[in-house]
Amino acid sequence: MAKPTTPPASEKPKQSQKPNTPSEPSHVVTPTIEDMAVFCKAKGFVYPNSDIYGGLAGCFDLGHLGVELANNIKQHWWKTFVQSRPDIVGIDGSIINNQKVWKASGHVDCFEDVMVECEKCKHRTRGDHLLEEKLHIHADGLSKDDVTKLIQKNKLTCPLKGCNGVLGEGKQFNLMFYTFAGPSADETTKAYLRPETAQLMFTNFRYVTEHARLKPPFGIAQIGRAFRNEISPRDFLFRCREFEQMEIEYFVHPQKINDCPFLNEVENHTILVWSSEMQEKNQAPKPMTIKDALKQKIILTAWHGYWLAQSHLWFVRLGADPEKFRIRQHLKTEKSHYALDTWDLEYKFPFGWKELQGMANRTDFDLKQHALYSKTDLQLFDEDTKEKFYPHVVAEPSQGVGRAMLVFLFDAYHYDPQRENVVLKLHPKIAPVKVAVLSLVNKLNDEAMDVFNQLKEHVVCAFDKSGSIGRRYARNDEIGTPYCVTIDFDSQGKDVTIRDRDSTKQKRVLRTELVSLVMQLLQGTLRFDQIPGKTL
Ligand code: GAP
Repeated sequence: MAKPTTPPASEKPKQSQKPNTPSEPSHVVTPTIEDMAVFCKAKGFVYPNSDIYGGLAGCFDLGHLGVELANNIKQHWWKTFVQSRPDIVGIDGSIINNQKVWKASGHVDCFEDVMVECEKCKHRTRGDHLLEEKLHIHADGLSKDDVTKLIQKNKLTCPLKGCNGVLGEGKQFNLMFYTFAGPSADETTKAYLRPETAQLMFTNFRYVTEHARLKPPFGIAQIGRAFRNEISPRDFLFRCREFEQMEIEYFVHPQKINDCPFLNEVENHTILVWSSEMQEKNQAPKPMTIKDALKQKIILTAWHGYWLAQSHLWFVRLGADPEKFRIRQHLKTEKSHYALDTWDLEYKFPFGWKELQGMANRTDFDLKQHALYSKTDLQLFDEDTKEKFYPHVVAEPSQGVGRAMLVFLFDAYHYDPQRENVVLKLHPKIAPVKVAVLSLVNKLNDEAMDVFNQLKEHVVCAFDKSGSIGRRYARNDEIGTPYCVTIDFDSQGKDVTIRDRDSTKQKRVLRTELVSLVMQLLQGTLRFDQIPGKTL
């Protein structure tokens, strides 16, 4: 009878015997954001940018596994919100834009944070973050005068260890990156790098609506890079200077702000809700259905409720822990210059509840601004009333790819004391490698390569022949590979074993059935324990 390919004890990986050094963070049970950065670097997901030259704060490079993970996240988002919906179309706009785009949008004048400088060491820090850290208050959006007053009243000093210098008055700092487009460097050639993908959906609005022949309600979606000269980039991928966004501008008729034909799909969905009123009254967030939040006028428009639920569900369906999410309404002081009402989808990161996705009601602010500045008619025509109108962006689901990666990585990260190893329980849809093909010994490499060639046409797989079989299982558990297919002495061209990452169970299956079984497992139409035959 065929033997299972379980590694003998001597072959078991030895991570637990090593200390938690930056190169081997694997025995951390609940990782901090710093542990996660170390893990991602050690396993080849994310590297600090320009590392050999000392790095560049707020910039990161993706390694092979990081590219696959990010691509899977983006593809799944695009499939869910663009390709599967007749009401949403996509664009891919340029990163560098005419400066007038960002003057019209208000970013050149208003996209600012308050910065404070240490009078002794000259270190600059973001004022609201300093207040949040030291006083545990919500300080986003406070004016420079309020930040200064609070710093002085509480006698806060330079946050750099050992400095304690006096902090100067708060100053506005604009986050826009710019360059010069053309062979001269002056005001006429100044061009901005976009701080959000959103504006390209507005500047292309006329083309898109003409070509896609869309009538409200409809959305325009985009995935792409955005750049913000953050005063204090921190928390690894959470706050970077260069990052990627996945955004939808969803346009509705201003008279039909509450006519959401899809609301019934999500109205019974429950989520933890924290309105601005609850925050002001120091009340804790409450679990509520979308239906109740709308009925009690906590969420003001049906569309906002619909998109908040959809965003939560998107994460949960890809394996995120539903309990670690809440929606929080912005306080009056923290709303962006364009927003009537904003809710954030927040996630409980190891460093606290933080914004994962912003969702503003931008009204007709942007279309009107661009119409004014560009002297272009950006209105639509209402066939019923025979009047022109500006549609409203009633909800703008706006999501960072890096923050989504962090959510999936944190929720997938498990330390298994039996295996003495990290098991990254990523949902198969986003796992960077779906199947690793392993040969038990080098003599079987050719047969294993045949299996790899058979599978590679259908799924992203890896061929791994170095190290003991136990170490190869451990390596694949750590990077989240859901299945390992092993060729052993009993295979003889006709069968292989499949090993399940989460249970470590194995089944012997015929090679002729391998592709079909693997596809069913990955698509979730077959559970591992439903594969016919004895579990090894
Ligand atoms: N178009 C609206 C907009 O950009 P935002 O709340 O400023 O709104 C949306 O950004 C999302 O983009 C955030 O929820 C976050 O996921 C991501 N994001 C924003 N700034 C970021 C940064 N500095 N680093 C990483 N992700 C960021």
